Formats: sequence, structure tokens, C-alpha cells
Amino acid sequence: MDMTKQQRTPFVEALEAYCAQHMKAYHTPGHKLGQGISDYQRRLFGDALRRDLGVMYALDDLFQPEGPLKEAMDLAADLYGAGRTFFSINGTTACIEAMILAVCADGDEIVIPREAHKSVINGLVLSGAVPVYMESRFDAARQVSLGPDLESLKAAVAAHPAAKAVLFTYPTYDGIAGNLQALTAYAHEKGLYILVDEAHGAHFGFHPDLPAEALACGVDCVAQSTHKLAGSLTQTSMLHCRRDFPLTERVAASMNIVQSTSPHYWFLASLDSARQQLALEGREIIGRALNLARQVRKELNQILGITVFGRDIIDGHTVCGFDETKITIDFSGLGLDGVTAERELRREGIEVELVAGNHVLALITLGDTAATAEALVTACAHIAAHHEGAPLQQAGEELPLPQPHVVMAPRRAWNLPREAVPLEAALGRTAAENVTFYPPGIPVLSLGEEITADCLDYIRSKMAAGYKPNGPADGTLATLRVLKEVSHER
Ligand SMILES: Cc1ncc(COP(=O)(O)O)c(C=O)c1O
Repeated sequence: MDMTKQQRTPFVEALEAYCAQHMKAYHTPGHKLGQGISDYQRRLFGDALRRDLGVMYALDDLFQPEGPLKEAMDLAADLYGAGRTFFSINGTTACIEAMILAVCADGDEIVIPREAHKSVINGLVLSGAVPVYMESRFDAARQVSLGPDLESLKAAVAAHPAAKAVLFTYPTYDGIAGNLQALTAYAHEKGLYILVDEAHGAHFGFHPDLPAEALACGVDCVAQSTHKLAGSLTQTSMLHCRRDFPLTERVAASMNIVQSTSPHYWFLASLDSARQQLALEGREIIGRALNLARQVRKELNQILGITVFGRDIIDGHTVCGFDETKITIDFSGLGLDGVTAERELRREGIEVELVAGNHVLALITLGDTAATAEALVTACAHIAAHHEGAPLQQAGEELPLPQPHVVMAPRRAWNLPREAVPLEAALGRTAAENVTFYPPGIPVLSLGEEITADCLDYIRSKMAAGYKPNGPADGTLATLRVLKEVSHER
């Protein structure tokens, strides 16, 4: 990597140089650098309006980059060790859709984990690919999924030897990193393309104590939410292709399909400058977050009734790495479930990332300080003190996600006529919509799947525990959309 070049921010420099010219605007956006906008909006968006420009020749083209954007994306590729990197202004959602679209044609089978994010299902609808689910291991004591292991992959491939690709979620939302090296070696041996949803791993390469980066494990394509844990604006992500990946041009064409033709230059500038920050200070800022997280974990584990797992989750087989900046706080020793703990934390002024079963997930990132780290510990200590001595209730239990029964390709289900039926009457029918509890955005039920008793039980138990479904047209789930005709032909 060329560290001198990494100091530059070619796209930000081009944007600033363009703005300094004070060109008279006879182009979109209609507010014309903020001149036509209400005072209210001007107060809200301030100086950002001067850099809100339509597509400018001087500022390159996201879909045919030749100038400063190409330079910016090449610098990102150099930093991450990719053959080519694409900037996404539609998050990792677009990157995942694009990589599936690039490698799978209509009817191709793709092996995916049970914890695939809903954007994977979108990718299946767009491409026409048929999902083959790998089973995941579930840690019942910690109430978290560990993802698939090598045996799960081998079983899926043995049952579907014609599968074209495999997609891994690496790491899981909780920071659990599977044995990607072994999974990759086996998948390549079987001739599969390997795609990775590394939404929660854009910071991995910047500290040796974090799990190995997916690209370093030899995979083909990696989607990363730069915005989640690496300092860019929300909605900005990167898609990396390994060197010599034969479908790179098709990935480029797919990114063209799933993104807006009017990318906001702030988003692109944000990716360019976040890359520079990681290159110059990555080790230091990620190391600081890790140290803070270790301190928080240690202090939380000293509070009676609260437990937080750490690297002890690594078993060297299913789990080969763990991101310690992800803090899964188990409140069951206080008799609290995740939903109640989240509510009590909110009263203490703390907003967490995710809630499930007996725990909440808190993130310590490059944005934290000793003070914010301490505030989390203090809030948990207050909650523990408040519940000390109270009779223990049975805390919430997170059930493993039911194994899907794929009836047809999601795209086929998307195109067939549908009807709404009462939830109870949906048993045995084929789903015409996804049911997700967000976050983590993992569908319990996806388009084209049989609605089993296990699915309905899972949905009922989540709703009874106070979770709101996301995805169905009827948000109360009194009714569910199912296909009018069920055909078992793919
Ligand atoms: C595992 C996983 N993959 C993909 C996504 C989608 O990422 P984005 O929000 O950047 O579109 C998310 C978002 O929460 C996620 O958790």
C-alpha cells in the first residue's frame, strides 16, 4: 500500500475545488445551492446545501469512473487489498443485491446461511436465484446464533451439487466470526463463487486482535457497511472484488442497476475521507475502541446479575474470531429480558443497537470515549441496583430461527398473485412477503417459503415478547400475504 497516496482524498479535493469556483447553477437540484429553500430547511441543512450538486462532469461518474472518483475507489481498493472497490450510496443492501445479481442467473442455486439479511432475499428476487439454506449452530446458553460451520456447508453442497455460489454473513451482528478460511477453501474446491456480507466488519483489517478480513481469507466479493463501524455517513458502503475476480465487470454493471443515478456527493466524499482516516489512523482509533470495549466488558462482568461474553465464545471450530467491540449484555441474572432491559436503559439515556432474548447489544466504536464507555457501565449498574433482591422472573428466551422450507424461488413468488389471510390460516401456505424483526433484519419467513408451525410459533413468541414485525403489509400481523396458488415447481 502506498501510504503517501493514502493521505490524499481525491474526490473531496475535486468537490472542494469545484465549489470554490462558485459556478452559477443552471442544473439540478432545484434548490440551487440552497437559494430557493425555506429558512427552516436552511437552518436544518446549513452549509451542506452548497455541496449538494447534481451530476457534474468535473466530479466524475460513479458508474463510469475515470477521474477523482476512480482515484478514490482505487485508493480504497489499495487499502483493503481488493482488485477493485465500488462505492455504494445505497448501503450494503445495494452491494449485496449487486453481488448476487452479478454471479447468479435465473434459477441458479445459491447457498446462504439461516441468518441472511433481508437484502439477500432482495438479491434473490432481482436475480431469480433459488436459496439453499445452510444450518446454523445456536448457542442456547448465550442465546446467539454462531452461524454455519464446515459440516453445514458440506451438507448443503452435497444436497445441491449444482449450486453456483455461497454467501456468508461474516461476522454476525453480535461480532461472531465463523471459520471463513476453512469454509472458503471448501467452497472454492467445489467451484462455488464466495460472496461475503461483511456489513459489520469494515474495521477488521485495522487491528490484529479483530477477526481476519474476509478478503484476506480468499473470498471473491465482500460487501461492507463503512458507515456501521468505520466512520462514514449512514447509507455509505463499499463493495470489494478480489484481484482477478472474473466477474468484476458484471459486478460493476450490477452496481449500476441497484443505485440511484443521482448520488449525493456528500456520501461519496464521506467514503473517500473515511478511507483516508482508516489508512492514517485506523490502528490507533480501532485500538482505542477495542481497549474501551475491554474495559466496559470487564466492569460489566463485575456487576452482579449482568454477564457479557467475550473471546471465550471462540471454539476454534465453528467460531474462529470475535469482535470485542460488540458487547452483548445479558440481563437474565436480574430476571430481565432484552426488551425490558432496553426500556430501562432508555430511561437512563442509553440507546442500544439491538435487543434479543435475555440481552441487548451495545457497540463501542471509534466514536466512543472513556466518558461514553463509563456511562454505559453506570447505567447498567443503576439497573442492577434497582433490581437487587427482587424475586427473579423467567427472563426472555431467544429461540433459534426455524429452518426455512423453500417452495420456490423468491422471484417467482414475487410475481404470483397473492391474498391476505388471517395469520392462523396461513399455516402450510407459501409466503408472499418477508417477515422480519428489525434489527437484525433477518427474515423469519421469506417470499416463496412454506409457512410452517415452527415459523408461526416463532412469530407469535416474538410478538408476545413485544417485538414489532417489519416487512408485512399488515404490521399487526393479524393477516399475512400468501400466494393464491401454491406450486411446488421451481
Ligand atoms: C448483516 C447485515 N447485512 C446487511 C445489512 C444492510 O446494510 P446497510 O444498512 O448498509 O444497507 C445489515 C444492516 O443492518 C446487516 O446487519
